[in-house]
Amino acid sequence: MSVIVVIGGQWGDEGKGRIVDLLAREAQIVARYSAANNAGHTIINELGEFKLHLVPAGIFYPDKICVIGNGVVVDPYVLLQEIAELEERGVEVKNRLFISDRAHILMPYHKIIEEMDEKLRGKHAIGTTGRGVTPAFADKVGRAGIRMADLIDPEALAATLALRVPYKNLYLEKLYGAEPLAVDAVVSEYSELGAKLRPYVQDTSSLVQQALKSGDTVLLEGAQGSLLDLDFGTYEYVTSSVPSSVAAGACLGMGIGPTQIDTVLGVYKAYNTRVGAGPMPTELTDEIGDLLREGGPRPEYGSTTGRPRRCGWFDGVAARFTARINGIGAAALTRLDVLDSFPSIQVCTAYQVDGQVVDTMPANSAAMASAVPVYEELPGWNADTSEVRRFEDLPAQAQAYVRFVEEILEAPICLVSVGPERDQCISIKEVM
Ligand code: GDP
Ligand code: IMO
Ligand code: MG
Repeated sequence: MSVIVVIGGQWGDEGKGRIVDLLAREAQIVARYSAANNAGHTIINELGEFKLHLVPAGIFYPDKICVIGNGVVVDPYVLLQEIAELEERGVEVKNRLFISDRAHILMPYHKIIEEMDEKLRGKHAIGTTGRGVTPAFADKVGRAGIRMADLIDPEALAATLALRVPYKNLYLEKLYGAEPLAVDAVVSEYSELGAKLRPYVQDTSSLVQQALKSGDTVLLEGAQGSLLDLDFGTYEYVTSSVPSSVAAGACLGMGIGPTQIDTVLGVYKAYNTRVGAGPMPTELTDEIGDLLREGGPRPEYGSTTGRPRRCGWFDGVAARFTARINGIGAAALTRLDVLDSFPSIQVCTAYQVDGQVVDTMPANSAAMASAVPVYEELPGWNADTSEVRRFEDLPAQAQAYVRFVEEILEAPICLVSVGPERDQCISIKEVM
């Protein structure tokens, strides 16, 4: 039995989907434990390219079980559409995908409230994915949510919505000047969605515990990135998932204990990207930033919203910080091929804040926003790495770059990806 948690070490979109897709071969269960359909994980296989928002990346292996854990917020429309698309493209989902009866439901008022909140924030808008995720998690924490167990029980749903909708209407009408929602219409619409999802709903914590007892390997697929975490990210420009997407959140979001986790794999991009607002010390708004975004296959545009990603050099201060808060035991470095054409490459090893050199991330938002990166320059390799499959066949400068990042992370880099396709990956050593 083993449990591996895969987390994003930056601001999301590190390539977690493609790494989980590789590791899933060795697992029996692949499970999501946090976030919602703000996530967008790209998987490329023999059936084509997929962008998964809620379904775990293991779904493409017919013999794997996939779980959406209690920590995930589920928009029933998005999930049903994702299932339908997968089935249309030849992926069997029934009897292989299970959703926790404790997972919370994203409701129509969450989307309206988020849109209004973002407008009210004006120039301080977070730049959310616009999916209603924060109000849904706020309701979970505020004990005003609706869970999968309610959604699939028409009587419970009607009773809960009779309380929730009039209350939300007060906000919609009085605070935001929006149209109220009709209780009956929401009840009948969501009862129908509940009926469609009922076959998938289970006590998934028991399912996973049973699997662990019988010796199965469970891969826990993190969403987002640690720099978007509520506690440790660049607050307030973070996401509101509870549990958080950092490795510790995997226990809460799946119903397992800390002693059951064997290792944590941190996924890092060979440089940094971010979508949405908030500080990003190494951001480059010049032609180098454009080259990082546009160079190489699969340019840097959000998998969920299509927004251009902000790009910059690898932030070693932030990476060291996230490696530690997640307790990573191993790492994967993705998109190394994007650096192929740069004559030299910078890595941020410290920040200058108020004239002081610091090597950890300041908690103070203003300090973080004013942090000036201190760079170390490494030579580029000016060679195509996309066909390389063995570490020793990488140009010496590319090997040195990987080793440099490894020292920052203080964990072995086990996998290096050099292109978006499944086989474009160099395995250096076993993850555990
Ligand atoms: P996730 O949210 O962490 O799963 O990452 P996304 O799927 O949002 O973004 C990663 C993007 O990089 C996707 O378009 C992948 O197809 C692509 N990708 C993954 N690994 C590599 C790689 O090694 N090289 C290149 N060029 N693209 C990659
Ligand atoms: P994956 O799993 C990148 C960002 C949004 C915004 C902030 C808050 O694909 O790595 P939210 O809608 O969550 O309230 O937005 O968080 N964000 C992500 N950025 N990848 C993600 O997921 C993200 N999920 C949320 O862009 O800045
Ligand atoms: Mg993504």
